[in-house]
Amino acid sequence: VIAHFQPKVLAGRKVLITAGPTFEPIDPVRGITNHSSGKMGFALARAAQEAGAEVTLVAGPVHLPTPRGVRRIDVMTAQQMHDVVLPAAAQHEVFIATAAVADWRPATQSDQKIKKEGKKVAPTFALTENPDILAAVAALPGAPYCVGFAAESEQLLTHARAKLQRKRIPLIIGNLGPATFGRDENSLLVVDADSHHALPADGSQADKLTLARILMQELSQRLSNRTA
Ligand code: CTP
Ligand code: CA
Repeated sequence: VIAHFQPKVLAGRKVLITAGPTFEPIDPVRGITNHSSGKMGFALARAAQEAGAEVTLVAGPVHLPTPRGVRRIDVMTAQQMHDVVLPAAAQHEVFIATAAVADWRPATQSDQKIKKEGKKVAPTFALTENPDILAAVAALPGAPYCVGFAAESEQLLTHARAKLQRKRIPLIIGNLGPATFGRDENSLLVVDADSHHALPADGSQADKLTLARILMQELSQRLSNRTA
């Protein structure tokens, strides 16, 4: 038996995490979603719990086991995720947004299955914008320390830093795809207002739980610097 001893660097801290995709219904049998696996958010929840934190995980539709000792709340839509996260956020010291929240949802939902019969042309769907959960949490009075994730297909540092500024958050973790999306192994870019570094430091790849554990160490340092 290999015992992974994790120092309890987040003992007593309350950490709120979003994970997975959202699902935006079109009608009772269809919807808009994406390929987010939820693995990074679940790995972070596990690593935070191991580090002694009290963890709440708000998950979109994924088939992943709940990490031990983690309180999990399942949601489907971006609006539901928003409505669970916003009232909970002020009671947490850290908010980590890994969810791939759908940017838009169908403006209206059909109560009945939309039928093909009798349609001369293919239907079109008007979309409406979903709330930006991370930006909304960051704008709360007494906001928790907010960490964003940015999956990009090009210009990772530029896009990640632009999101950091737009959402007014202190830290964002960049992930350059699409080759690594959904994989277990990944390499990340940790970006704050005036510095950035690769994770793992040598630019190699590591599995998501390893990355999550390193991120928890880094997070605890940033939290104690903030309160020092
Ligand atoms: N996010 C969120 N709510 C949204 C959209 C994004 O909380 N409605 C969070 C994500 O969980 C992630 C961060 O914001 O931590 C960045 O998400 P991303 O989709 O990369 O940013 P957007 O601002 O939506 O920009 P775009 O999709 O155009 O790249
Ligand atoms: Ca988006």
